[in-house]
Amino acid sequence: MSRIRIGVLASGRGSNLQAIIDSVKEGRLDAEVAVVVSDVEDAYALDRARSAGIEARYIDPARKGARLSKESERRVIDVLDEFRVDLIALAGFMRILRSDFVRHFSGRIMNIHPSLLPSFPGLKVQMKALEYGVKYSGCTVHFVDEGVDTGPIIIQAAVPVLDGDTEEVLSSRILREEHRIYTEAIRLFAEGRLKIEGRVVHVLPERRDDAGGDESRH
Ligand code: GAR
Repeated sequence: MSRIRIGVLASGRGSNLQAIIDSVKEGRLDAEVAVVVSDVEDAYALDRARSAGIEARYIDPARKGARLSKESERRVIDVLDEFRVDLIALAGFMRILRSDFVRHFSGRIMNIHPSLLPSFPGLKVQMKALEYGVKYSGCTVHFVDEGVDTGPIIIQAAVPVLDGDTEEVLSSRILREEHRIYTEAIRLFAEGRLKIEGRVVHVLPERRDDAGGDESRH
């Protein structure tokens, strides 16, 4: 597959977006972030995109709550189509996408979630993990289906919950792993190595001609 084009959707601080941008810049990810779209006008993610020379678009959600208005969501689809993205990476995007959106980009939307799914879907999940008393939490990269945090799982990383952890401390320990596994999942997608079979994502072995990297090195 040639260099894939990624469209990132983000609502806030954008540290996962930054991790993707850095991975591309440092040559760890053969991809291009083509556009960043936010439903929040002053999202720091948009600043990060502009600083990296990436097109940054705010789309007015036109309503509060879990979903964008239908018209706003149509505009997001149009922008992503305009930039001919191969993959959509949700990176702290705090809205639920409608079926039309998910079907339009079927098998090409990923999300990062700060728990070990299927435990703790939804919001404020680091706090929920602490309150529940689990000894391990973590993060999950998954394909997006029409449910909420229910799509086929690509990669997970477990993170221990330590005595005395606050929401902030646990969240930042999980976030470090998020940055690592999101890049890894996108890299596998870019290499054409993710095969979805029902609920299960199989990771295909590295192709030999991908394995050597720069031919001139040996
Ligand atoms: C991350 O922890 C991400 O997993 C979470 O929001 C945070 C965004 O941080 N996403 C969700 O909870 C999605 N339901 P970031 O803006 O610094 O990447």
